[in-house]
Amino acid sequence: MTKPIIINTDIEKNTINKNIYGHFAEHLGRCIYEGFWVGEDSDIPNTNGIRNDVVEALRNVNIPLLRWPGGCFADEYHWKDGIGPREERKRMVNTHWGGVVENNHFGTHEFMMLCDMLGAEPYVNGNVGSGTVLEMQEWIEYMTFEGESPMSNLRKENGREKPWKLKYFGVGNENWGCGGNMRPQYYSDLYRQFQTYVRNYGDNKLYKIAGGANVDDYNWTEVLMRESAGLMDGLSLHNYVFPGGFENKGSALDPTESAWFVTMKKSFYMDTLIKRHSTIMDKYDPEKRIGMIVDEWGAWYDVEPGTNPGFLYQQNTIRDALVAGIHLHIFHEHSDRVHMANIAQTVNVIQAMILTEGSKMILTPTYHVFEMFKVHQDAQYLDVSADVPSYEFEGEELPQVSVSASKAANGEVSISLCNIDTKKDAPITLELRGLKEGVKNVSGRILTADKTNTHNTFENPDNVAPKELKGIEVSDETLTVTLPPMSVSVITF
Ligand code: AHR
Repeated sequence: MTKPIIINTDIEKNTINKNIYGHFAEHLGRCIYEGFWVGEDSDIPNTNGIRNDVVEALRNVNIPLLRWPGGCFADEYHWKDGIGPREERKRMVNTHWGGVVENNHFGTHEFMMLCDMLGAEPYVNGNVGSGTVLEMQEWIEYMTFEGESPMSNLRKENGREKPWKLKYFGVGNENWGCGGNMRPQYYSDLYRQFQTYVRNYGDNKLYKIAGGANVDDYNWTEVLMRESAGLMDGLSLHNYVFPGGFENKGSALDPTESAWFVTMKKSFYMDTLIKRHSTIMDKYDPEKRIGMIVDEWGAWYDVEPGTNPGFLYQQNTIRDALVAGIHLHIFHEHSDRVHMANIAQTVNVIQAMILTEGSKMILTPTYHVFEMFKVHQDAQYLDVSADVPSYEFEGEELPQVSVSASKAANGEVSISLCNIDTKKDAPITLELRGLKEGVKNVSGRILTADKTNTHNTFENPDNVAPKELKGIEVSDETLTVTLPPMSVSVITF
């Protein structure tokens, strides 16, 4: 008999920062160009060059924040190339991603306009790898200084009188790799130098994010925290799930159980990474002032056959829905330290929320998880005790069910549940403790599929879409339901 999962509805642990549901959009493949930006003259319905369907879809998940312009692109990006009349902007090569022409039609003004349309906070990532201190200093001045100054005047000449509000600013990206191949001591010193000139103008207070570790490079975190903790607000962490390893990632549509299992196992690894990096951060910042900013995460597969290898376009299946559910639950659990996370990447790249083909757009299973989980944004993370059966494969075991619960400001409790087993149902009993008024207005939604690689296509966009979760039974303070294999559910009352 399966043990009940205990939800202590009266034990609120931390706020789940809505920025854990953040996104990332790079000048990579068809993410910015085609994905967001189609230009004012496009036949695709747009507002000032930005496609309406994508904006509407992202507003529907309450997108809280968007990171831009990279990624590796950020450390090759010179922001002045992307301002002024579009036709006069420099055409350059996107050396990192496919060697294609970057016409710079999407720059600072377009990004800020996009964030405005989305109702999302901008998170701008600066260039340390190939940029200068002056360039970074001037970008901040251009975006945030109100008074009389060369950069503020330039902004006004380009049609923007008032500065923008900007909080989140990244000082470099992956500086251990594409951002300059630096050693931690060297980057730490550069971070100290560059961030000095990332100034707060007027009442615009910046939250400075230092470039953090690659996966399990704990020494990077140690050095950054030891040398520069006092000068940062956030420290990033990047980790991708490569089912077959970095060289041979595997197909997004691989139907095998071994691919499924390893993807789940590597998703749970995020918990280990956060715990270990947090232990180091705790040493220098026991108050947890500094946020761990997981500003790149997701499942990364081989590109779809026939597409540009530099564009990182991949399909997205029910497997990715589970990847998303597991990661988001882990971020909830560590919400005292994890203040932001950004799935890579929003449209047409890696674990995308949205795929486009010309004027067509589809929502991926990952999108649906973000939409179903939006109830957790800024809610109070509740204490949960779950001793669940195992999902076994070839002698290895993982917890069959991942669960997380939160309470919103209006008192509504939401419990999300992922059954990762490919074959077995999960009969669940939820013991709801600490309720003041009993269980009322219960509803549930489920996202599931019958094959490990079921996905949405432009012909059949609703193969994987949320449906009503049937069969929830309530008796006093106990709720029972059976979760089918390969499913993500949310129950609210
Ligand atoms: O998201 C794709 C790339 O992955 C980013 O540009 C880089 O930061 C990371 O290595």
